[in-house]
Amino acid sequence: MSIYRNAVWFLKGMQEYTRCGYEAAAKRFNPSDLEVNLSGRSFMITGANSGIGKATALEIANRGGTVHMVCRNKGRADAAKDEIVESSKNQDVYVHIVDMSNMKQVWEFAQNFSQNNTLHVLINNAGCMINQREVTEEGLEKNFATNTLGTYILTTALIPLLKQATNPRVITVSSGGMLTQKLNVDDLQFEKGTFDGTMAYAQNKRQQVILTERWATQHKEIHFSSMHPGWADTPAVQTSMPSFHAKMQSRLRTEAMGADTVVWLAMSEAASKQNSGLFFQDRTAVSTHLPLAASRSSPQDEEKLLNILEEFAQKFKP
Ligand SMILES: NC(=O)c1ccc[n+]([C@@H]2O[C@H](COP(=O)([O-])OP(=O)(O)OC[C@H]3O[C@@H](n4cnc5c(N)ncnc54)[C@H](OP(=O)(O)O)[C@@H]3O)[C@@H](O)[C@H]2O)c1
Repeated sequence: MSIYRNAVWFLKGMQEYTRCGYEAAAKRFNPSDLEVNLSGRSFMITGANSGIGKATALEIANRGGTVHMVCRNKGRADAAKDEIVESSKNQDVYVHIVDMSNMKQVWEFAQNFSQNNTLHVLINNAGCMINQREVTEEGLEKNFATNTLGTYILTTALIPLLKQATNPRVITVSSGGMLTQKLNVDDLQFEKGTFDGTMAYAQNKRQQVILTERWATQHKEIHFSSMHPGWADTPAVQTSMPSFHAKMQSRLRTEAMGADTVVWLAMSEAASKQNSGLFFQDRTAVSTHLPLAASRSSPQDEEKLLNILEEFAQKFKP
């Protein structure tokens, strides 16, 4: 089954996830969707110092929104902030130093932030594909910690704050790679068998899509969506998938193309008219499963995922 899924997914990717795929899809975009004034609205973006997150932050700053950049490295974050302020002439750009793989830090940040700020839109963008099995100082496998549990804790901790805002939204940058995976709740930290970073990453990205669907049913006041940016030329792709990057470089999207659907979901009125909980590619809601891929999970497994994440969240709550 995994050979079938990978083959179908790669063929789909060559058509849709490349720069050509973006250019074909962009012909039906409505440019006026992004003609919005964001002054008075506040956006938090994780991993905003680089790639898709930084391109998104710039588009928001350009339209007058307040930008909260959540980054792990102060030097890289300050440099990106300076560039965004310089280019947008918007001074309302703030850096918060948080390692998304450290659950205590994520909790403390979310709690402190909630006391002193408003928030209209959360963009869960920070992500990683670590190809060796590494464990954080809190004892968590690093891909799971960064992509799934950090996203879960940040989002659930900020939900009460988001509910106080008008038209609140949560966008999670997942990946089309998740189409190759069926949810596996029995080994969330990849302790069994041979470790495969690509598989771990895709499994985390599947979990993000399921979390988005579940949050949408639990919190009707907030508009949730997950999305696939396509294949964009970013530092993550260069370092985590060097041979894919080398072979595909000329066909990859720019960072701005990768960010386009995030930006559209975060700010357009058209996006907020879509149902909550959907998965998007190039401004369109798309299936979360490949044809005949047998990748659908049972409600019991999805419930189990939520229960395990909540147990972890409580364990690390300060
Ligand atoms: N590019 C693609 O083709 C593609 C395809 C599908 C999905 N995605 C997703 O798009 C998102 C953005 O990735 P990108 O491609 O734009 O790569 P990128 O330029 O490398 O950006 C990743 C961002 O996440 C941050 N990050 C990673 N681990 C973190 C941690 N523990 N704590 C805080 N921040 C952390 C990175 O910070 P540092 O700069 O400090 O490392 C960086 O700012 C990711 O979720 C990725 O999975 C990308």
